[in-house]
Amino acid sequence: MRSIVLLSALLLVGCSRDENVMQEVADRPFLVQLPPGAPPLPVPAANPLTNASVELGKKLFFEKRLSDPSVVSCASCHFGNAFADTVAFSIGSNGSLGFRNAPTLANVAYQERLFMDGGIPDLEYQVLAPIHDALEMNSDINAVALLLRDEEPYKSLSLLAYGRTLDAFVITRAIASYERTLVSGWSRFDRYLYANDASALTAQELNGWNIFSSAATNCTGCHSGFDFTDRDYHNIGLTTDHSADEGRARITLVSADIGKFKTPTLRNVALTAPYMHNGSLATLEEVVDHFATGGLAQANLSPQLQPFTLTAQEKADLIAFLHALTDDRSLDQVP
Ligand code: HEC
Ligand code: HEC
Repeated sequence: MRSIVLLSALLLVGCSRDENVMQEVADRPFLVQLPPGAPPLPVPAANPLTNASVELGKKLFFEKRLSDPSVVSCASCHFGNAFADTVAFSIGSNGSLGFRNAPTLANVAYQERLFMDGGIPDLEYQVLAPIHDALEMNSDINAVALLLRDEEPYKSLSLLAYGRTLDAFVITRAIASYERTLVSGWSRFDRYLYANDASALTAQELNGWNIFSSAATNCTGCHSGFDFTDRDYHNIGLTTDHSADEGRARITLVSADIGKFKTPTLRNVALTAPYMHNGSLATLEEVVDHFATGGLAQANLSPQLQPFTLTAQEKADLIAFLHALTDDRSLDQVP
């Protein structure tokens, strides 16, 4: 096994020499396996990935006592292979519905800004948002730390990972560390493009990739690069009434940003229905139909969108390509 499970090892050691060994293992860098086309993983120097930090982060990610009452964990809304939710709006711990569709956390380490409006600067800071949001976990990070800090495995892992008792500093850094390990890029499309395996895609999927990257559909105008996103914000004309959610303008307060949302990754997109910030499109067929219209006319509509026509076969091919972006292994590398 690549990494030991620290806690069970901890129970077996007593004397101080063994404790030094434990600390040495805990401090070892956690090496994330990167798929063929992946850029280097951005990890802040102030919060390096170690065996102990990612193990603690994973435990906290699945911990329902982060919420009040203790009914939802981070994983309740971001779960499974693709770390997204399957409903348009997730239900928070007090039974309320959120106002946006829970996105996949695949490749979240590469995101420059978080949330669909880009309102959050980094993963550490992001952890505070769901814990304190009344519609999500409805809790308080200091209360959570008090509740968990004297309990194993939290007590030992917190000391091993950060040399201090579990508190807001530790919780935010540990969960962010675990999230950075969720790297996606193990799909047949990756094998085709980055590992030179021409047989990895069927003829239909290959044709779908050509349609996706064609000037007519211009999908790659926004869904570009390893993670299929330009990391920019666009109004794709889903609606003309943005009173429920102004998108990027909520943060910038600039009217030219009304209705703009961050271009999402398309990795594992076959698994992450329903689609869009509000979960308003149920299937990939509906998504393609939407883009084919060019979007509803309005001041901020992206000039990169143009109406296009596909035959039924071409549409099926494009969707087959999107299905080839599904990873064929679990994104979770933390034992
Ligand atoms: C009740 C459901 C729910 C819970 C619980 C929840 N989230 Fe989320 N999460 C969401 C929704 C909805 C969004 C989209 C918010 C937005 O863009 O404004 C989101 C967005 C995110 C993002 C930003 C992703 C991106 O691409 O910008 C991260 C990271 C994240 N959540 C991590 C977490 C972590 C860590 C926890 C636990 C501490 C957590 N979430 C708990 C629903 C939830
Ligand atoms: C002008 C930039 C732009 C172009 C061109 C574009 N997209 Fe998007 N796409 C976006 C944005 C922005 C969103 C998110 C909108 C929202 O959340 O409301 C999105 C969302 C999606 C989603 C939903 C993802 C999810 O997780 O909810 C899919 C699937 C998708 N696009 C596929 C395509 C395909 C296929 C094409 C070409 C036919 C295309 N896009 C062209 C910007 C673009």
